[in-house]
Amino acid sequence: MTGMPATLDRQSLHASVRDPLLETMNFLNEITARYPDAISFAPGRPYEGFFDVEDVFTHLRIYLDQLAATGAGPEDLRRALFQYGPTAGQIGHLIAEHLAAEEDIRVPAEAIVVTVGCQEAMLLVLRTLFARPEDVLVVSAPCYVGITGAARLLDIRVAALPESDAPVGDALPRLVATERAAGRNPRACYVVPDVSNPTGTTMSLPARHRLLAAAERLDLLILEDSPYRLFTGQARLPTLKALDTGRRVVHLGSFAKSAFPGARTGFVVADQEVVDRDGTRSLLAAELAKVKSMVTVNTPSLSQAVIGGMLIRHDYRLSEANAAAAAHYVANIAATRAALGRQFPPQVRDRLGVSWNDPGGGFFLTLRVPFPADDALLATSASEYGVIWTPMAYFQPGGDDHAIRLACSYLDPKQIDEGVARLARLVRERAR
Ligand SMILES: Cc1ncc(COP(=O)(O)O)c(C=O)c1O
Repeated sequence: MTGMPATLDRQSLHASVRDPLLETMNFLNEITARYPDAISFAPGRPYEGFFDVEDVFTHLRIYLDQLAATGAGPEDLRRALFQYGPTAGQIGHLIAEHLAAEEDIRVPAEAIVVTVGCQEAMLLVLRTLFARPEDVLVVSAPCYVGITGAARLLDIRVAALPESDAPVGDALPRLVATERAAGRNPRACYVVPDVSNPTGTTMSLPARHRLLAAAERLDLLILEDSPYRLFTGQARLPTLKALDTGRRVVHLGSFAKSAFPGARTGFVVADQEVVDRDGTRSLLAAELAKVKSMVTVNTPSLSQAVIGGMLIRHDYRLSEANAAAAAHYVANIAATRAALGRQFPPQVRDRLGVSWNDPGGGFFLTLRVPFPADDALLATSASEYGVIWTPMAYFQPGGDDHAIRLACSYLDPKQIDEGVARLARLVRERAR
């Protein structure tokens, strides 16, 4: 018997699949596929020139050799690569060493869960912390879509604070007060303190201290996400987690930029104590691992082995291993700013109302324009001007639409020059 093919009413699917937040990225991907010759400032991808296939084999070998040196026999090595692994991961102790060596973050391996990218870390943290309908996630906006998108999947309410120096000062307490007065419960605040995605902003040291103090006062957790830390181009400021004396910070980690995104390996540091009614105590990490056991079971062992080997090879510090990449990203941001400067000399800039920020490093730069930078303009930009970028409004639905995110990481200087020239022509013609 042949049945009628099933058709599904889109309205019957989870509302997140119709949410503009999730649809926008599809639009961007479609545009990119339709105009392959356009120069694209859209993808926040690492530059591929530093990837070396042989490193994967070298790192795997180093990891296995270290396991063998610590007493593992052939059966253990086979199991470590081929078998299901511990849910919380098998390289937590190496990541703990890395955090101590590189970031002065001192946590036991038990406080770490190795995840399938930082993205899974976000999902686990949100699922575990947000229990009641009135729980609210505070984000600084514009905001990385990975976290707001994950919140959308889980039906978690999001409240946005404008990103300035930091989401503190008066704004955070005021927002928390407003939410509480409306019967809601701000539970955690998500921030990207170093050369953020999407804007390229870095939070100053006093702002970091103020945020921690505010979190304490307001009884909030902070979700700290900092995948571009090694590429700031300046002396790195301490992470919020390194400054955290009250276990207020859940630190979300990613090896996508410091190693490579294909490994899909990240982690979460969750050293908060969880107390049960009968007084039993556990770490938040253990609760996250329970959720992970129902999401991805464990992070692929092969990926963990390669990342683990890389950490061992570089004495647990990835900053030196990334020195050339960091110089490349810093140079690309400088090249983009220089190209913008040539296209828009100071008087022209002021007359048109065009400006851009100086992130100093990282992957992203914000360009402000005197007209809405929306999907329609993006389509025109790709088809008629041969240049693609991301509307900043993608990262702040309903917010300021007069800004553009330029991702500068993936391109070479010639492409940057040509891409900025194309973009400048569009801006000049639109601004008229
Ligand atoms: C701020 C931020 N967090 C997290 C991620 C994702 O990290 P992962 O690839 O480890 O999931 C990205 C990637 O673009 C990002 O920009």
